[in-house]
Amino acid sequence: MSRTYLIAGNWKMNKTPREAAALAEAVKGMKKGPATRKMIAPSFVCIPAVADILKGSDVTLAAQNMASVESGAHTGETSVLMLKELGVESVILGHSERRHVYGETDAIINDKVKLALAHGLEVILCIGETLEEREAGRVEDVCFGQLEGGLSGVGSDDMKNIAIAYEPVWAIGTGKTATPADAQAVHQACRGKIAGLYSASVADSVVIQYGGSVKPGNAAELMAQNDIDGALVGGASLDADSFAGIVAFDG
Ligand code: PGA
Repeated sequence: MSRTYLIAGNWKMNKTPREAAALAEAVKGMKKGPATRKMIAPSFVCIPAVADILKGSDVTLAAQNMASVESGAHTGETSVLMLKELGVESVILGHSERRHVYGETDAIINDKVKLALAHGLEVILCIGETLEEREAGRVEDVCFGQLEGGLSGVGSDDMKNIAIAYEPVWAIGTGKTATPADAQAVHQACRGKIAGLYSASVADSVVIQYGGSVKPGNAAELMAQNDIDGALVGGASLDADSFAGIVAFDG
């Protein structure tokens, strides 16, 4: 297994451009292990300031979303072409806030995934069940459906540009983390699903991050699980010290 750990900070709708630049500078200096990749996803308007700072660094610049079409009459949307020109290399798609607050369906997310891949962006595809779905015993059902829907029409070759983020909705921003064993069980099941959709070798190389109240105090324990290959971090990525503590989980 040669998967790297992908530690990504999803800043959501936080930080002004000036604040974002200062935090990006701090992330650039954060120590990490040799098998760890650092990534940050500022808001759209902060991307130019952050891109300037990250140029030539070992931090990957990501966006938190993008439009499902390339250009045209889509007031308020941001296109893949705009992001590419600013130096964005990766995009988070299907985040639970996009699904549950803004009504994005698997079909919309799938259009975005295919468009991003066609333009050479790496994609983090987020999946995860709500508390209600978990209590109804539907965790795999929901996650497998989101994998099938989000990856529909994506070929094996493109899977090297896809990472999955398993983020149980009930653990996001709530301080409730899935136990490492619970998270591992879902990660392992999702890897099995990907093996079925593609092949054992695609499944073995795909990075599956965990997200939902990841903090310096629980990062190492989560990452020690066989099928947990990194973290998508919201709240704890907004503070340089706490993000540094997660990035350095193995050090
Ligand atoms: P959290 O958010 O770390 O604040 O729980 C994770 C996410 O939404 O990606």
